[in-house]
Amino acid sequence: MTHSDLKRWLLERNPDTLATLWQQADATRREHVGNAVHLRGLVELSNHCRRLCAYCGLRAANRDVPRYRMSPDEVLDAARQAVRLGFGTVVLQAGEDMQLDCQTVAAIIRNIKTETDLAITLSLGERTFDELAAWREVGADRYLLRFETSNARLFAQIHPSAPGQICDRIGQLKTLRDLGYEVGSGVMVGIPGQSTDDLARDILLFRELDLDMIGVGPFLPHPDTPLGQATTRSHSNDRDATTNDALTTFKVIALTRLVCPNANIPSTTALATLEGPGGYITALQRGANVVMPNVTPVIYRQQYKIYPDKACFYDNTEQTCADLRAQLSAIGRHVGTGRGDSPNRAGRPGAAGIQSSGKST
Ligand code: 5AD
Repeated sequence: MTHSDLKRWLLERNPDTLATLWQQADATRREHVGNAVHLRGLVELSNHCRRLCAYCGLRAANRDVPRYRMSPDEVLDAARQAVRLGFGTVVLQAGEDMQLDCQTVAAIIRNIKTETDLAITLSLGERTFDELAAWREVGADRYLLRFETSNARLFAQIHPSAPGQICDRIGQLKTLRDLGYEVGSGVMVGIPGQSTDDLARDILLFRELDLDMIGVGPFLPHPDTPLGQATTRSHSNDRDATTNDALTTFKVIALTRLVCPNANIPSTTALATLEGPGGYITALQRGANVVMPNVTPVIYRQQYKIYPDKACFYDNTEQTCADLRAQLSAIGRHVGTGRGDSPNRAGRPGAAGIQSSGKST
């Protein structure tokens, strides 16, 4: 698919024409990654962050968020809950919290690997080569780092570099690949100042980076951030500006499936926040094959406010999972067993190495 094909689809409004996009994405998903929906337990282990991202409620300058950091034992307990719920993966996500240093994170990874067969995905922001290498060495399997937008000028505006550092997320994604991680990235849809051309380029960059996991969600304005008052419509009269709505997000998910058929693609919490629980299911029928239920202790969950009204703040995780299983079987899908490694990663030379880091293969 070329840039102009992608752009045409992104601008398409006719529901009958779009129905063919949804069907193609769903058929491609079935053919390449099957009917299993992999569940990943999301542990938001710290909301401390040293960065000043213009979109994110966890930015260092936001004094209205009570900050927390889970203890290694609390993280292990959350991982145990993921096992009890039948998940094959735990995702350890945090702001860029420098107290989560190399040794602390390595110890958490070791604890989980010693006691469980879970695959471990890290999502801890921009980190040094030495940290990434050490974590991989002790058993981390995957890493998520969204590049947020392929438009370098827009990225620099919304994501100031840390003092004294040059931010190079694309470089880090390549490093992660070289270290043998399964590599995930993604973007937000409808960032103020983002154009449809940018989104088309984002999707082509997913392919160029040969990503194993691709997360796409709508930008949701947080009132305590510089972009908080923004709505993309008022930001630009440009017909080419993107909107942060569910339809555009569904289009990006469907097109991503067509362009990167073997990738694992989650139905994201941001989409569920915008669309309600039905949004999860619709995305799974338009290309997605992964859901990341939240297993963070409820006392902390409300403080991990990257955007307001986040779905799952108050959810009972057991009930959410039971409902999800029922909803999946109603659409002819089932919960995947095992780790749910990315078929895309499996196809790359040296992929066998990733198996040796987990206890279950
Ligand atoms: N709206 C939507 N997504 C957001 N993220 C951060 N802030 C927001 C927001 N206001 C996303 C970013 C980040 C991921 C963890 O959450 O894409 O990479």
